[in-house]
Amino acid sequence: MHPSALSKYRPFPPVSLPDRTWPDQTLTHAPEWCSVDLRDGNQALPQPMSIEEKLDFFDLLVRVGFKQIEVGFPSAADTEFNFLRRLIDEGRIPDDVTIQVLVQTREPLIRRTFDAIAGAKRAIVHIYNSTSPLQRRVTFGDASRESIRQIAVDGAELVKKLVPTIPQTEVVLQYSPESFSDTELDFALECCNAVIDVWQPTPERKMIINLPDTVQWSTPNIHADMIEWMCRHLSKRDSVIVSLHTHNDRGTGVAATELGLMAGADRVEGTLFGNGERTGNLDIITVALNLNSHGIATGLDFSDLQSIRTVYERVTRLNVPERQPYAGELVFTAFSGSHQDAIKKGLDRRAVEAAQNPELPWGVPYLTIDPQDIGRSYEAIIRINSQSGKGGVAYVLDREHGFDLPKTMHPQVGKRIYDLADEHGRELSIDEIREAFFEEFVNLSSPLDVIDYELIHQTGERGQVQCKASILIHDQKKAIEGFGNGPINAFVHAMEGAGLKDFKVTDYRSHAVRGGSDASAAAYVQVQHDDGRLLWGAGVDPSIEMAGLKALVAAWNLLR
Ligand code: KIV
Ligand code: ZN
Repeated sequence: MHPSALSKYRPFPPVSLPDRTWPDQTLTHAPEWCSVDLRDGNQALPQPMSIEEKLDFFDLLVRVGFKQIEVGFPSAADTEFNFLRRLIDEGRIPDDVTIQVLVQTREPLIRRTFDAIAGAKRAIVHIYNSTSPLQRRVTFGDASRESIRQIAVDGAELVKKLVPTIPQTEVVLQYSPESFSDTELDFALECCNAVIDVWQPTPERKMIINLPDTVQWSTPNIHADMIEWMCRHLSKRDSVIVSLHTHNDRGTGVAATELGLMAGADRVEGTLFGNGERTGNLDIITVALNLNSHGIATGLDFSDLQSIRTVYERVTRLNVPERQPYAGELVFTAFSGSHQDAIKKGLDRRAVEAAQNPELPWGVPYLTIDPQDIGRSYEAIIRINSQSGKGGVAYVLDREHGFDLPKTMHPQVGKRIYDLADEHGRELSIDEIREAFFEEFVNLSSPLDVIDYELIHQTGERGQVQCKASILIHDQKKAIEGFGNGPINAFVHAMEGAGLKDFKVTDYRSHAVRGGSDASAAAYVQVQHDDGRLLWGAGVDPSIEMAGLKALVAAWNLLR
């Protein structure tokens, strides 16, 4: 923002609450949850959901475990009304799920809302009117506090009168001072207490006071102060469920909700993936999984987040961003070398320790939860681009392709492959990494190639092996032979006899390739050239001996 624009803005006044207690609270249990996807979420969509799409979304919310679902604003439009009627008339609402309907505190709208819910087993009737000074002045033309409070009281009285007209429906009552987030606290309290006074809730028959962060104007600590202040001052607190409804204008919807819960709220309204007006409503998935990540049960099941996302993206026609907490494509992926290295070490170590202790607490660097707990696999955790390090490439080759490279080979292979990613200017896929590894390090056959070999184990001399090999050097076929205390050593001597030895073998290892389609062996040979250069080559072959020779030849070729 240009500095000259700043004179338009003012600091948000803090709440005077010197004895606030919320900073010392910890979250120990989940709140009641209410999904507002089908109302606040739907009303913010460029293309609202059709009835069929809403039905699909409703079923999804039920599957996830929501027991309270705001299904719409039935007095606002026929589609909303008809959707609700279908839910009720077709018996689609499970017995343990309460639907919620929103309505302004206006008589004809309230009456129509009662028509819409008639026949439901249990319904929350949610009335609201806007209370902030800005709304009173601008939207309602300098309306007085008294007139605004009276609107709430009139609406509450009408609702109270209509409840007995639908005796087969258990009606739960909810009031929101809309724009609570910038309403003077004493006035928000006045409106809420006036409604409480009309509805006369009891501990057995509670009502809900929802305190919306309709627009986020302040930091989450101020929101928490406001909630704690309201919780202290509301009348009949033991008969009132205090509910949060945060939006995300400052990007702090989740923080404001978490601090609001610490400040004493009992209930949370929000949406999946945070769809909603402007920057969205609170993302319930994030708050629930944050609780799960501290070992707290929530009653909501996000163990198959991908299938939830699929339905959500289809019916809302929105996309879940790559960096969305928990659900985003990239949130369990590390590109940077140091992160990859730490994750690899963490997962490896966990595999060993968890085998001994199934109750082992989660603890892998950079991963706040086990991705598998929400249906993500480890496959995508480490991906390779030019920022990646040696550990990441080795991790992919090992976990995805079954090649367990010696540690001292990691830098050589890692550097070559992330240089390649840099040349391409993009991330390399798991298969491209394997291809590049083969192209650059495995079975290199030019200028030297082994065509055939025979190993003759000498009788009498323990460990002595004779190697007869047919090689191709600079396109010329040659037969070579040598003795040694193992196949590699014998082949090195055969190379020496052919004038090809300008190196010594400094390290060697081999293993069966895990998970390969054909049973292959992999071998890695490190050689040191007479000029001091150290290099690894790799060989892959059904025969472990041939894999070793190929690895040596690959290293020799790499020296050229
Ligand atoms: O954000 C808001 O204030 C609302 C109310 C209607 C609860 O959605
Ligand atoms: Zn809202």
